[in-house]
Amino acid sequence: MHISIITLFPEMFSGAFDASIVKRAKEKGKLHIHLVNLRKFASDTYGTVDDHPYGGGTGMVLRVDVIDRALKHTRTLIKEGTPRVILMTPQGETYTQKKARQLSTADHLILLCGHYEGVDERVRALVDEEISIGDYVLTGGEIPAMVLTDSIARLLPDVLVKADATTNESFEQSMLEYPHYTRPEIYGDARVPAVLLSGNHKNITKWRQEQALEKTRKRRPDLLLREKKDLA
Ligand SMILES: C[S@@+](CC[C@H](N)C(=O)[O-])C[C@H]1O[C@@H](n2cnc3c(N)ncnc32)[C@H](O)[C@@H]1O
Repeated sequence: MHISIITLFPEMFSGAFDASIVKRAKEKGKLHIHLVNLRKFASDTYGTVDDHPYGGGTGMVLRVDVIDRALKHTRTLIKEGTPRVILMTPQGETYTQKKARQLSTADHLILLCGHYEGVDERVRALVDEEISIGDYVLTGGEIPAMVLTDSIARLLPDVLVKADATTNESFEQSMLEYPHYTRPEIYGDARVPAVLLSGNHKNITKWRQEQALEKTRKRRPDLLLREKKDLA
């Protein structure tokens, strides 16, 4: 899979993409990341990518012509297929594990990172969809682009050592995951539940299912309601 990221701050991605699962996905050749510096598509020799908003107001807005040039250039780098272009914006559809799974089957994604006051409204016509990583405002789309890339990388085939590590997780089957325990068996007053030490896998599976359901009911009943709605 290929992910191209259009950004004013490509340097922000080193570190996040050079460790752990994303690094492994790159090294295995399962994920190719291309950073495209938006500044290179500036409207003048000073590197101008933004301007004041029409109608007044604070902040600067990223220009549509600059973004259009960057998108066109990025498309020319793609050898096969049609990429899916995603604008990172707090005004987009809220990102979920279901969406991560859906995107993980794409051949090529282009993630467009806004900055400052955001992008010119006409940019919306240049993208396929808009995604928000939550109801809060970040300084730029770089961290949201990292969130998408990380969540997708771990879903790519042969990236995680055990494939079931992703199928048994929180938000799969619209539930939070069951609790985990490791050594020591007793810590202060807290003991590992006896069933986990029993060696009876049928009972362990049953206990885990019950715990997952109980936890979800208590902490995230909205997930169960959403699942009901999806099935209706
Ligand atoms: C300071 S924000 C602009 C917010 C914009 N003025 C608004 O109120 O909707 C700058 C950029 O950060 C990114 N961004 C901020 N919060 C985000 C979120 N929750 N999800 C995705 N992208 C976000 C977007 O790319 C956005 O264009």
